[in-house]
Amino acid sequence: MTANTALPGQPQIAYAGDQLHVEGVALSQLAREQGTPLFVYSKAAMLSALAAYQRGFAGRQAHICYAMKANSSLAILQVFAEAGCGFDIVSGGELARVLAAGGDPAKVIFSGVGKTRHEMKQALQVGIGCFNVESEAELDVLSEVAVSMSKQAPVSLRVNPNVDPKTHPYISTGLKGNKFGIAHEEALRAYRHAASLPGLKVVGIDCHIGSQITDSTPYLDAMDRVLDLVAEVESAGIPIHHIDFGGGLGINYNGDTPPEADALWAQLLAKLDARGYGQRQLMIEPGRSLVGNAGVCLTEVLYLKPGEQKNFCIVDAAMNDLPRPAMYQAFHQIVPLQPRSGDGVVYDVVGPVCESGDWIGRDRQMLVQAGDVLAVLSAGAYCMSMASNYNTRGRAAEILVDGTKAHLIRQRESAFDTFALEQLV
Ligand code: LLP
Repeated sequence: MTANTALPGQPQIAYAGDQLHVEGVALSQLAREQGTPLFVYSKAAMLSALAAYQRGFAGRQAHICYAMKANSSLAILQVFAEAGCGFDIVSGGELARVLAAGGDPAKVIFSGVGKTRHEMKQALQVGIGCFNVESEAELDVLSEVAVSMSKQAPVSLRVNPNVDPKTHPYISTGLKGNKFGIAHEEALRAYRHAASLPGLKVVGIDCHIGSQITDSTPYLDAMDRVLDLVAEVESAGIPIHHIDFGGGLGINYNGDTPPEADALWAQLLAKLDARGYGQRQLMIEPGRSLVGNAGVCLTEVLYLKPGEQKNFCIVDAAMNDLPRPAMYQAFHQIVPLQPRSGDGVVYDVVGPVCESGDWIGRDRQMLVQAGDVLAVLSAGAYCMSMASNYNTRGRAAEILVDGTKAHLIRQRESAFDTFALEQLV
């Protein structure tokens, strides 16, 4: 790695001299001050990812609702709220976070197949913008809850376009066999039903076909399917005010080449224009593409353990901090904060958790010694938000870098924090 080399997909995370930096902050200094594992995020990287969407939507009526499941730390929500974003939530807990971060409830959309009555009430009380409803049974319950509060719930139906997003099966959601959405063939009936219920007001249509999508074709196909439905539903006399295309745009983990957000939207808007829907209110729910490449996880090398078949590099971060490799065989680049010169050895990078599934990278050529600190890249999305306390490991601390300032946005959890809600009998 040479001086001032930016890493793929993340220009704000780069070597200056022989030191890896996030914006103007040297990561080795943060690791010394805060310990490891440590998540470090670049505010500029998040805003620049957002700017690509904003450029794509220039001159259109569009709302960007950050899918906060990707990273729901309050300070990160604050960054997006201050930049004008709304939020895509999937639980009452996420709604509480939006409010705590100063987000506008009117810009919140509530997705998910299993909303409880309690969560529906909570959302109606604060006046969220829209419920993305995923089944006819949910329509009935939501209407009942709204009527009991003398309110009308704004709803959009999440339709399942039956399009293959060509991604990992666990993160593909728009196919027939998935639990998500209302089947294309049943959508018109569900809309008629929604329009007949006293507690509901139909406002839109929604689809989300999966995550880490690196090709624009599935989006274009899904859009055709959704627009066919808009035409059908509107000719049945039910106006569709907004069209929500969900999230799903992928990032560069390992040489992946997803389209830029503005380029993808140039294609999608051309299709919308061609079919006469270009001036509709649009919504999107991006998560990973706004935060994924904006974060790294710092981890110290504890031990090198050479073996007959494998060499292990044992680090202090584990599957409880970085669950994606164990869950989806996901690839994250791993780089040293201060590269050494030489060829190195091939290692499996593993954590201290007592499971063979606790690996972070496999077959990585690295020149490292115990005590070195490594950065696991593209760790801004679906890492901290999926972290657990397995093996009674406190969750990592988090830092948000803004220029040369490093803000501690979450303290490291102590062992006591992990059992603070428990009691002996
Ligand atoms: N909207 C809905 C309804 C969703 O279910 C999701 C993600 C999003 C938006 C945001 O999708 P994104 O833009 O982030 O792709 N834990 C997995 C990813 C799970 C995605 C779940 N739904 C991973 O680490 O790859």
